[in-house]
Amino acid sequence: MSGPREIIQRLVDDRTGTVLVELIDALSTNVTHFFREDHHFKFMREKLLPDLVKRKKASGDATIRIWSAACSTGTEPYTIAIVVKEFFDSFLGWDFKILATDISTKVLGIGAKGIYSTKDLETVPKTYLTRYFRKIGGRHEEGGYQVNPELRNLVTFRRFNLLTQDYPFTRKFDLIFCRNVMIYFDQPTKNQILQSMQKHLHASGYLFTGHAESLGRAVKGFKHVEPAIYIKV
Ligand SMILES: C[S@@+](CC[C@H](N)C(=O)[O-])C[C@H]1O[C@@H](n2cnc3c(N)ncnc32)[C@H](O)[C@@H]1O
Repeated sequence: MSGPREIIQRLVDDRTGTVLVELIDALSTNVTHFFREDHHFKFMREKLLPDLVKRKKASGDATIRIWSAACSTGTEPYTIAIVVKEFFDSFLGWDFKILATDISTKVLGIGAKGIYSTKDLETVPKTYLTRYFRKIGGRHEEGGYQVNPELRNLVTFRRFNLLTQDYPFTRKFDLIFCRNVMIYFDQPTKNQILQSMQKHLHASGYLFTGHAESLGRAVKGFKHVEPAIYIKV
């Protein structure tokens, strides 16, 4: 087992950046589950998606972009994909995509494969399990499920550090989920992230935070809508 001295030395010696990525993976708290903080998804179904579709149709814009900004193992972006898919049924005529980012390459690998254990899927309603997952693994293997390609194709997984100075996204997002990650940052860091997200949201775009997180008074450009839901103003 390496002590702090050895770890620092490995970091100093490593020119590839691999050790840093390993360290970040080991230190990240990746706790997440499907349909976490379900209030957000109820709000999406009942209020946000009907309004968004009306606005998009009125302006002749058929693109919908959602960013899951600290997506962990993918349970958050796949939950979003299920909610949106259930709402639209068919995406005919729509250009819909979810960008799922995280700093940890380990969790991004899990998300890209979309393979989850029976335990991971405990919070997924049975109808969705049948509709969006397929059972994998033989009789003697640990049972598991994989997200169907139909849903996997809606989500792109990429590594992205939220502390990056200038966010490189060329297109704006309609919704940003930045949940249960800001608790790890101090207020100035949070302010910087929130200002960047505000810039990358469409007018009247929504920001979802974790229910235990608050934006803080200094952050401008958002109006509180419901617990942990903000709209760009
Ligand atoms: C507790 S999980 C939250 C996952 C999901 N958003 C949810 O609410 O279920 C926090 C995630 O934030 C990621 N993270 C931590 N610091 C980050 C940073 N600077 N940039 C991007 N992701 C980060 C971690 O790797 C971890 O996967």
